[in-house]
Amino acid sequence: MLVLMGPPGVGKGTQAAMLEAEIGLPQVSTGDLLRAARRDGSDIGAQAGQYMDAGRLVPDELVVALIKRRLDLSDARQGAILDGFPRTVDQAEALQSMLAEQNRQVDRAVLLTVKENAVVRRILGRLTCASCNAVFHVESNPPRVAGTCDSCGDKLESRSDDNEEAIRTRLATYRASTEPVIGFYRSQGLLREVDGGQTVDEVFQGLQGALNH
Ligand code: AP5
Repeated sequence: MLVLMGPPGVGKGTQAAMLEAEIGLPQVSTGDLLRAARRDGSDIGAQAGQYMDAGRLVPDELVVALIKRRLDLSDARQGAILDGFPRTVDQAEALQSMLAEQNRQVDRAVLLTVKENAVVRRILGRLTCASCNAVFHVESNPPRVAGTCDSCGDKLESRSDDNEEAIRTRLATYRASTEPVIGFYRSQGLLREVDGGQTVDEVFQGLQGALNH
């Protein structure tokens, strides 16, 4: 099981999708699962919505239940690329117990790092496809046809939490709640760091290197 960590907008989703195509393990993004739950009108989606729009973390018990259901699906039996989970030490401990029950474990945690002002630019220029979760950027990775997803042809949109106020809250939440998870994996010798401020392809090379060492 691989864990991809880093602040909002560092490129976790972009890199996880590339890694899925390369190694065949599914990308499991709690952000995408929660957004899908909101679109479906499920109870979890309704409860999560207010937290997400404000840039705050959805309560651990909701997210842990969601990830457990997802990791029990057959395509995740051989492992998965976890994107945006765990985000608190309690979530990291819950993941460890959940995997241990099935004789599984986290094999590597990779932290993508980048300067805060760069992530704000990345997030404010992001376009996402609500149908297939593909991610674009108005400048660094524009779609071939403006406003249209290259992968599935659906309409691209900005996420409801991609505004300056929510971004500031997401960064503060990351520092307070998620940075301690870095120490959790470092103390187990599982953590590697990759400079996420490089081009998408350079980051991907660094990520592949981090998985092999
Ligand atoms: P989530 O969807 O996980 O958002 P996030 O962590 O804030 O991360 P992002 O999706 O914003 O960024 P990313 O790192 O994936 O970057 P991306 O590849 O898109 O979570 C949203 C919300 O859901 C949370 O705030 C919370 O409320 C809730 N939630 C989710 N998981 C939770 C959990 N475990 N516990 C509790 N609550 C949870 O790239 C960003 C942009 O930059 C794109 O436009 C991309 O094209 C561009 N880009 C990417 N790489 C590069 C590059 N190298 N150079 C230039 N541009 C680049």
